[in-house]
Amino acid sequence: MKIAISIIFVTLCTTAIAASMNVGYPVNYRSWQHLKSMAIQPGHPLESPFGGIHHIYANPLAMRGLNTDDFADGAVFVFDLLDYIESENLIVEGERKRIDVMQFDRESFADTGGWGFETFVGNSKTERLEQDVATTCFSCHESVASSSYVFSQFRP
Ligand code: HEC
Repeated sequence: MKIAISIIFVTLCTTAIAASMNVGYPVNYRSWQHLKSMAIQPGHPLESPFGGIHHIYANPLAMRGLNTDDFADGAVFVFDLLDYIESENLIVEGERKRIDVMQFDRESFADTGGWGFETFVGNSKTERLEQDVATTCFSCHESVASSSYVFSQFRP
């Protein structure tokens, strides 16, 4: 009986630790490696919620993962989404709409390929979008399971 209770306790603690791991705000991501940029215009199927101009950044562990196709815990990608303003045949950056983050931790995020997905709203470092990331994020990234759920590559 004592053993059974201990096992239940240990299981509860492990579950609590797993559930408490969340994706951190990617401090200083603007100084990381820039991978690519893209503008999504009105009328594109992904306009909601990804309309605007986005830039994608990778931290050093994410860069190493792209090169070796083996991601280590701590690898992070950021999808930085800004509005854009069109005027006089120019397209320039507008306000930040959100950042989408993928943080690798093989055990904590085992259900979503080892990647934790998160959205920080606007310029906030703390306001997270309430969403079920398994359906809103991972379901689409699953289509690139062969590249460890990562779409972007580094263009030398
Ligand atoms: C409908 C498909 C789709 C959904 C849904 C989606 N993504 Fe992506 N994501 C993409 C594509 C495509 C790219 C590459 C964009 C490019 O090439 O500029 C991408 C790129 C990224 C990147 C940069 C790393 C990489 O894989 O290239 C991050 C970080 C990211 N998405 C996070 C998220 C988060 C967080 C969510 C959920 C809120 C999400 N994505 C939902 C399709 C999707």
